Amino acid sequence: MTPAASPAKAAGPLSEEQLARLKDWTKRFPHPSMGLLEALRDVQAWFRHIPLEVEPTMAELFRVPLHQVREVVTFYPFFTTRPAAKHRIAVCRNLSCTLAGCGKALSHLGERLGVPQGKVTDDGLFEYHAVECLGACEHGPALSVNDELLGSATPERLDQVLDAGRSGKPLEAPASVAVPTKPVPPGSVILTRFFHEPELHRLATYKRLGGYAAWEKAKGMAPAAIIDEVKKSNLRGLGGAGFPVGMKWGTVPLKKDRDVPHFLVANADESEPGCFKDRVLMERNPHALVEGLMIAARAVEADHVFVFIRGEYSRQLRILQAAAEEARGAGLLEKPIQFMRGADAYISGCDTALLETMEGKKAWPRQPPPFPTIAGVMGCPTVVNNVETLMMVPSVLTMGADSFAGLGAPKSGGTAVFSVSGHVERPGVYELPMGTPLMDLIALAGGVRGGKKLKAVIPGGTSTPILTAEEAGRAKMDFDSMRQVGSFLGAGGVIVLDESVDMAETLFIIERFLAHESCGQCTPCREGSGWTTRILERLLAGGGAPDDPANLLRIGDNITGKVICALGDTVGAVARAYLTKFPDDFKRKVARG
Ligand SMILES: Cc1cc2nc3c(=O)[nH]c(=O)nc-3n(C[C@H](O)[C@H](O)[C@H](O)COP(=O)(O)O)c2cc1C
Ligand code: SF4
Ligand code: FES
Repeated sequence: MTPAASPAKAAGPLSEEQLARLKDWTKRFPHPSMGLLEALRDVQAWFRHIPLEVEPTMAELFRVPLHQVREVVTFYPFFTTRPAAKHRIAVCRNLSCTLAGCGKALSHLGERLGVPQGKVTDDGLFEYHAVECLGACEHGPALSVNDELLGSATPERLDQVLDAGRSGKPLEAPASVAVPTKPVPPGSVILTRFFHEPELHRLATYKRLGGYAAWEKAKGMAPAAIIDEVKKSNLRGLGGAGFPVGMKWGTVPLKKDRDVPHFLVANADESEPGCFKDRVLMERNPHALVEGLMIAARAVEADHVFVFIRGEYSRQLRILQAAAEEARGAGLLEKPIQFMRGADAYISGCDTALLETMEGKKAWPRQPPPFPTIAGVMGCPTVVNNVETLMMVPSVLTMGADSFAGLGAPKSGGTAVFSVSGHVERPGVYELPMGTPLMDLIALAGGVRGGKKLKAVIPGGTSTPILTAEEAGRAKMDFDSMRQVGSFLGAGGVIVLDESVDMAETLFIIERFLAHESCGQCTPCREGSGWTTRILERLLAGGGAPDDPANLLRIGDNITGKVICALGDTVGAVARAYLTKFPDDFKRKVARG
């Protein structure tokens, strides 16, 4: 691996101390370029933007071409090229938060601050933005300030934020509202089983409840034996694609055959609208991730273990770092765990884009093959698994693969932790065995709010095709059953929509999100997502044309299968589901136009 950069001369506005700190980032990771995004976060914090004069220094220090620094600075929304306000307030505008009234929160900010969205107040203290899903949909409308989630954007909370910003007093980030599951037969709930323990995030509590026993067991097992056990358990990837975990691990070349560093990455980027279970799990049960990482690292012979976490999960990052530190202090870490933050780009969660982000580049997904397990970070074998997936691994070893498999559906072992938001009485996370009927999950969340009639359900995050109420009544929550009703389990982000919801508006919110997050690399996705959004916007504004629905279908079909990653395919797949299942909601708009 390339050695860290040699000392650079003082550069532009950077002080000696700042330069020293940046140099420190060049040495923290296996290659200097991997520290670029973290270092840029420091620069953004110091100057509230990335001054142009700093870019050559960054290029020199992090051993990347100058244009790469520019691309990174301009690609990721977290970085700004003009001075940002001291307090950047973000209110989510995605689906669950629209249903919860985010428009009112934004108007409230506009009235209080007297500036439009995106404009810095004259005193330089505040700016506010409507942003995409913050991973806190159960708090809808979700609020964050400077990457710190601060709960629900009620008028009172917003006033507290403004007072705190003016007085300089920090605001406490509230703990996750995790909804405990109702009493269940022992062994049928895994990750949320001890959520009632207030100190579950502490090592002593986790160990008292049986934690790290699986890691002790794994230490006595050969890597191949761990992989076999995971294969037998039918554990599937819980980050969206549902790929069998043992099978993925089995494709990593053995060290004896290819002696290069191996990487393991926990994908904690969680940005799919409707999904927030990883956030709650990391906050409540961080040692399960630490333990899962150690077992997985042993199985795939990983030299470097990373957690890649979305930037807005500051509280969760602190909790995880504390857990990793406790585990290190107790001699439980065979490999150190390193942390890297994203910079507010949804596409970074796609595994091949995540590799690019980690390498200090803009998040353009790679076209496989080769797959990451063969050529991932810096061309080395890399396993990327979702946070929840890795957290399940210890239970596979303690319960035994057969019991784990038996708990779930035929080809989806164990349980899953579902995020439930939208029109339910009790939004939150609920863990249930794979294969549980969707309506049982909705009942657990208190049923449709206010006793209203169910119109539709999004089963796995907004990228998954919508289900009519009738389909929802037949759906079961596992990967294969969900395909039978024409959708996907995705990352288990269930959004419940009652009879008051307009499907043209809903589709607009989803397509606007996809157009906003498209990395722009493939023309069909970049242009098609934009066209789709603009047609829907016009339709909603009353300017619809009779052939709009047909055009939307045609545009979608011209994207599907012609792009690099699943984001592009989603543009057409979701449009088709809404247009064909709820044609009247679109026809009504056309007639009005
Ligand atoms: C646009 C896009 C965004 C994604 N975002 C995430 C994410 O935030 N977290 C996640 O675990 N997987 C995400 N994925 C799926 C990953 O590419 C990958 O399949 C997953 O991290 C593998 O872990 P698993 O097999 O344990 O699910 C995303 C995929 C796409 C196409
Ligand atoms: S499909 Fe869209 S998001 Fe995915 S690589 Fe292509 S342009 Fe980027
Ligand atoms: S936080 Fe608003 S939709 Fe997820």
